[in-house]
Amino acid sequence: MAKNVRIAVFASGSGSNFAALEKACYVGTIPADIVLLVTDKPDAFVTERAKQAGIPVAAFRPRDFETKQAYEQAILAVLQEAQVEWLILAGYMRLISHVLLDAYPERIINIHPSLLPSFPGKDAIGQAVKAGVKVTGVTVHLVDEGMDTGPILAQQAVNVIDNDEQQTAKAIHEVEHELYTATLKKLFEK
Ligand code: GRF
Repeated sequence: MAKNVRIAVFASGSGSNFAALEKACYVGTIPADIVLLVTDKPDAFVTERAKQAGIPVAAFRPRDFETKQAYEQAILAVLQEAQVEWLILAGYMRLISHVLLDAYPERIINIHPSLLPSFPGKDAIGQAVKAGVKVTGVTVHLVDEGMDTGPILAQQAVNVIDNDEQQTAKAIHEVEHELYTATLKKLFEK
């Protein structure tokens, strides 16, 4: 049997996607091991989830570094030490710079709560509801230097519910957890 892929999840928030991926790796649906959680928010709830799952947390405060490059160099050192092969962004609220992009060419993946290229950036679900669209969705894509712009790997449509952000967000998050799992499973089984 092939060896599991070593991944690091990057997250800044509540970490429901992290939890879904952790479970899918644990039960063997995704042939990967999450060897590290990287966060730019040491107090984020996702760090609690990682600790409970026994996954090491690497927390860095960007303001402790003089430049973005220095911040990412520090992350890179930890990733290399842990022999991480792929970076999986799950609610990581920062653009990735060339330091990590060069170290992990076409090996950084992101999930975004819209059908890209519609509604990139922050508050994609709020943007969709305000725009009055009836259908939005979820996109999993490779990361490049732009904001939510890399090649698309998978998409799934989700109906906007009653013009309501909260209900729509709930439906989107459920789809995210399934689509991220299915996409990584397919990718890592290749
Ligand atoms: C998700 O909607 C993801 O698509 C976006 O940030 C959100 C993170 O949610 N990039 P969670 O922290 O995984 O619950």
